[in-house]
Amino acid sequence: MRPVIVAANWKMNTTPADAGELAAMIASRTREPDVVRVICPPFVCLAAVRDALAGEDVAVGAQNIHHELYGAYTGEVSAPMLAGLATWAIVGHSERRRDAAETDELIGRKVGRAIDAALRPILCVGEQLAERDAGRAIEVVARQLEGALGGRDPEGLVDGGLVIAYEPVWAIGTGRNARGIDAAEMAAAIRSTVARLGWGDAAAEGLPVLYGGSVTSANMGEFLEEPSIDGALVGGASLKPDEMAGIVGRAGMTARARRAGTEMR
Ligand code: PGA
Repeated sequence: MRPVIVAANWKMNTTPADAGELAAMIASRTREPDVVRVICPPFVCLAAVRDALAGEDVAVGAQNIHHELYGAYTGEVSAPMLAGLATWAIVGHSERRRDAAETDELIGRKVGRAIDAALRPILCVGEQLAERDAGRAIEVVARQLEGALGGRDPEGLVDGGLVIAYEPVWAIGTGRNARGIDAAEMAAAIRSTVARLGWGDAAAEGLPVLYGGSVTSANMGEFLEEPSIDGALVGGASLKPDEMAGIVGRAGMTARARRAGTEMR
């Protein structure tokens, strides 16, 4: 049985002065014991959020890590530096692919660095609108996965708790979400791609796949109705406690149903 996960990506929002209060409010409004909750604030807010979440069952994640361990990389933060601050890390977000020209090869190295530092990686993949319109979405995402994960020891990736977030680029921050049925098709394609990369069918079947892209409390159900989707990576709505309460509440329904052995339809 795969876990149900809701990860909040706060992006470049909040300050050390206000992040703790927001995190505490979200934690108290989303208490669902069967849902794995993760909050990913900016680096400078990690300590405040960690402190605010003391005693809550909510994990803290970074939004990025560097692909090297230390050295002359001005302005960067490496995975080992996050010890005591975070236990998860987003890697390969499309905004970093776009703004920092991150390649699949580089992103794959970040996945390895995250796991070596005991950070659970959320690897983001997703196609551009033109690629979907051209019928190439699955091919593009498969290439991203092969580029980042090909040649990496499947056992290490499974043991390191790798999670994939399928985030179609055209759906991020646009208010235009993918259809549940398309996200489900992609989740199946993601698992068959990693199976081809040497994972084997059982490990591939156990890989958690989240959807991301304009997720709200109103559309969360459309994704979780798909048995192949295991939760969401939430951007804009994750800054709103009301929205997070609705999103995690809906996730709790699916998580309980899974635990009871019946997929929600
Ligand atoms: P969004 O962002 O929910 O604001 O579309 C999702 C993401 O970028 O992870």
